[in-house]
Amino acid sequence: MHIVTGAFSNLGKHITRLLVEQGARVRTLTGHPDRPNPFGGRVEAAPFNFDDPAALVESLRGAATVFNTYWVRFSRGATTLDRAVENSQTLIRAALDAGVPRFVHISITNPSEDSPLEYFRGKAIVERSLIESGLSYAILRPAVLFGGEDILINNIAWFLRRLPAFAIFGSGEYRIQPVHVGDLARLAVQAAKQRERVVLDAVCPETYTLEGLIRLIRQEVGSRCRLVHLPPGMALVGTRLLGLLVRDVIMTREEMAGLMANLLVSDSPPTCPTRFSEWLQLHARSLGVHYISEVAKHYK
Ligand SMILES: NC(=O)c1ccc[n+]([C@@H]2O[C@H](COP(=O)([O-])OP(=O)(O)OC[C@H]3O[C@@H](n4cnc5c(N)ncnc54)[C@H](OP(=O)(O)O)[C@@H]3O)[C@@H](O)[C@H]2O)c1
Repeated sequence: MHIVTGAFSNLGKHITRLLVEQGARVRTLTGHPDRPNPFGGRVEAAPFNFDDPAALVESLRGAATVFNTYWVRFSRGATTLDRAVENSQTLIRAALDAGVPRFVHISITNPSEDSPLEYFRGKAIVERSLIESGLSYAILRPAVLFGGEDILINNIAWFLRRLPAFAIFGSGEYRIQPVHVGDLARLAVQAAKQRERVVLDAVCPETYTLEGLIRLIRQEVGSRCRLVHLPPGMALVGTRLLGLLVRDVIMTREEMAGLMANLLVSDSPPTCPTRFSEWLQLHARSLGVHYISEVAKHYK
């Protein structure tokens, strides 16, 4: 039996599918235990229980692995990135107390405790907590996911399909190295079978500039949308106004800053085989047909 946080969500669903195909049982910890369960009786759902550590320990007992995909994209109301750090640390302590032999944790490329960006700083703090916990761990660091229910790349395509003009903030020359969600899930399942403590970037063999990525998506989905460059501040105001229309947070100031600081790219050799360009050719017809809302997914 394995624990997957978020088995009904994006990456967690792909990890769970692989585990179930291999005959394993999965218990998921989730904020939405009542969501439709595509795995039937092979997956049972329990709440996160971050505020009840004893119950959390009990829900982890007997698991061979914790696959932790839990995180929040940005602070909103009581759901803050600081809280996500505390919750992740609670989960790590609970795994230790429950005697779980392996912890596979999903982080981000280029986390740093010195980062001015809460997301990257919080990820680095959680990584250190895991490394110092005494647990056997694998830390996998993706940049940006594509495939599945990925939000960023899908929604770029959604806007390109609908808007007459699309704003690229600043020069657009920021590097980005996406990774296929299925590749990352396979890497996670393989990492669970090993015992070595390992920290690995999870990236595909192709690196794009943000503008190059947007131009490729535009071409493949057959969009005629004009691409214009705007100063980052103006582009942020534009995304906030569009956000009001789609009732979502499209991109935060921090996410823009992370891209502009080239944090979504790796200096290490690629660890995941699927090329974004090849995947895009196969999936261009469906990419961005439906909008995927972060707010609807996690706040409703
Ligand atoms: N998506 C990307 O492009 C990307 C890029 C780099 C790193 N990552 C990392 O990869 C991991 C998985 O990403 P993902 O796209 O698969 O994430 P996801 O599907 O949005 O969510 C993963 C888990 O976090 C929980 N969660 C997310 N937002 C939450 C919120 N606001 N409040 C409470 N719980 C929340 C989900 O809860 P429920 O079970 O209730 O849905 C789920 O258990 C994360 O650690 C993320 O930081 C993702």
